[in-house]
Amino acid sequence: MPTLATTVDGLKLPNPFVIGSGPPGTNLNVISRAFREGWGAVIAKTVSLDSSKVINVAPRYAKLHANDPKDVIGWENIELISDRKFEIWLDEFKKCKDMHPEGILIASIMEEYNRDAWTEIVERCQDAGVDSFELNFSCPHGLPERKMGAAMGENPEIVEEVSSWVMAAAKKPVWAKMTPNVTRITEPSRAAFRGGCQGVAAINTIRSVMGVNLDTLRPEPTVEGFTTPGGYSSKAVRPIALRMVMEIATMIRSEFPGRTLSGIGGIESGGDAAQFILLGADTTQVCTGVMKFGYESVKRMCDELLAFMEKHKFETLEDFKGKSLDYFTTHRELVRMQTERKAKDKAAAEEAATKKMVRADSEWSGDDFVKQSDALAR
Ligand SMILES: Cc1cc2nc3c(=O)[nH]c(=O)nc-3n(C[C@H](O)[C@H](O)[C@H](O)COP(=O)(O)O)c2cc1C
Repeated sequence: MPTLATTVDGLKLPNPFVIGSGPPGTNLNVISRAFREGWGAVIAKTVSLDSSKVINVAPRYAKLHANDPKDVIGWENIELISDRKFEIWLDEFKKCKDMHPEGILIASIMEEYNRDAWTEIVERCQDAGVDSFELNFSCPHGLPERKMGAAMGENPEIVEEVSSWVMAAAKKPVWAKMTPNVTRITEPSRAAFRGGCQGVAAINTIRSVMGVNLDTLRPEPTVEGFTTPGGYSSKAVRPIALRMVMEIATMIRSEFPGRTLSGIGGIESGGDAAQFILLGADTTQVCTGVMKFGYESVKRMCDELLAFMEKHKFETLEDFKGKSLDYFTTHRELVRMQTERKAKDKAAAEEAATKKMVRADSEWSGDDFVKQSDALAR
């Protein structure tokens, strides 16, 4: 019987399904629900020291539907990090660890470009008992206007410097969460590892404009008649997330063996998670999927992942982590292999033709009957 249990950076997870930072981890109530339903770990909604600067608007979500309007394939949000007071969060982190001592609680943190602020937020969260950290270098909207979030994550030098400030204060494992809104996601990922982070998480949302209402001519989600570009998530982003995870995992293999990777983006099933693990992820995060299918979806996803493992006779996640990375190569190499295979096929067909080799009973001919019989005798 295969097992989903895994140990990542010393954290013991019952399964690789982690609640991604966002509404599904926005207060003690919902975090507790996630642990009760069996999630492998929970990353709380991103916190900062001064929540008074965080002011949300409504509506702040917009959905992209497939032809079947019940099928949501894309989701845009212009939600900021948590607007709840830091002191309340610290209290809830403590209560959460009292209620769920075995549950892995990860604090997602974000601060301005200031060493004292990053040191303070790390020390106070770990005093409250959190098990590890995720550094939000990736929120694509609102916060970059204050030089936070993706404004930091787009700049590898700042990622390395802030990561090293955090590592000097942190006694717990640290993952740096990457923005996909860069040309080469390996550059900030590499910088986070150089700064000492144990792991990288990818991806946060993709900067987007969901659409324009053709009656009002206003872009959506419309707030007081206007909007601002937001972050795109859900299953439509999965191919982009898989490509970025593949690139980071390949880089980890060659440059930072032993460092870890948390895959995120449009995961809704055990099969989706298997694909991220096959491309090198140690854990898989789900955010929008929980908003679409609820906390109980973790049971279905675990069953689906176990069924995949049984089918392939994999006993542990380690047995197939990164296995599909071996099947990537350059386009030039694809051309070389295909040309070689076509040449072999052509040679085989020519050989069969000269020898009058029969490949189907319909090819027997009265004129070549003896030659055809001989060709089959060898
Ligand atoms: C409504 C909403 C709010 C989010 N808030 C945060 C946040 O506070 N911090 C963070 O790191 N990521 C945040 N995210 C990003 C998600 O954690 C995740 O990286 C992204 O949505 C892609 O994964 P998904 O397709 O499973 O949602 C948010 C996403 C959504 C949809």
